[in-house]
Amino acid sequence: MKSNQPIGIFDSGIGGLTVTRAVKNRLPNESIIYFGDTAHLPYGDKSTAAIQAYSVRIAEMLLQHECKVILIACNSASSAAYELVTEYVGKKARVFDVINPTVDFIRENHANSKIGLIGTKQTVSSKVYEDKITDLGQNIEFSSLATPLLVPMIEEGMYDDEICQNILKRYLNDTRLEDIKSLILGCTHYPIIKDEIGKFYEHERYEVEIIDSAEIVAAALKSFLAFHQLSNKNHSSEDKFFVSDFTKSFETTTKTFFGEEVNLQQIPIWDELS
Ligand code: DGL
Repeated sequence: MKSNQPIGIFDSGIGGLTVTRAVKNRLPNESIIYFGDTAHLPYGDKSTAAIQAYSVRIAEMLLQHECKVILIACNSASSAAYELVTEYVGKKARVFDVINPTVDFIRENHANSKIGLIGTKQTVSSKVYEDKITDLGQNIEFSSLATPLLVPMIEEGMYDDEICQNILKRYLNDTRLEDIKSLILGCTHYPIIKDEIGKFYEHERYEVEIIDSAEIVAAALKSFLAFHQLSNKNHSSEDKFFVSDFTKSFETTTKTFFGEEVNLQQIPIWDELS
């Protein structure tokens, strides 16, 4: 692995741009190859086997682009395919997911507490967060809730209004999330509504720390690159943003997740399989 190789980041769609933005903020010299599998989204409702097959093919494509790191930005793909992708990639690149760095953060900061998680159906039903946090053996009570309405709500731009607060009220008042001390945002889209979630708890006069896995993985990636002398010293090439199915609407929505609109390019990575 060489420092001037790009970082590959993939997601089921464009939500992974929240993670990409966090990475770019901390590592502005790194070149990014982003891939959003818009032809197959949402991953949150797919089977584990399907997500594994997609993820391995995407990792192969990112290896062809000589990425030094492959970052699985999608929580659903992290929960379904991290081990498989790591095995597939071997020593050719370092694979990161969004779950393991978050569990490390919890080990360091949240022993003896009650932690909640919100995410897609796939992420919650996989129990990956739950198992890893339980394995820490740190007297942590953990509970999780699938919150599938949040992804389409955010994609439709309905996060700054009453609809959002009503949906949040319904989900966050669920008894499973009662008395939590912190809440993991276990989905690429949720950093967009971090303030609204904060407002909900403020209104309820209830103090909950919000754990943003996008920021945590970006910090972990920065430490990894520095430790292994793999940080790019000079910004060498442009970032590329690929999708498996292009629509103008996806391109417009990139602004929500990345802070500025980016040009999406369609690449036909599934053609070879069909
Ligand atoms: N990227 C997915 C995740 O973080 C959310 C959207 C989807 O279901 O595809 O779980």
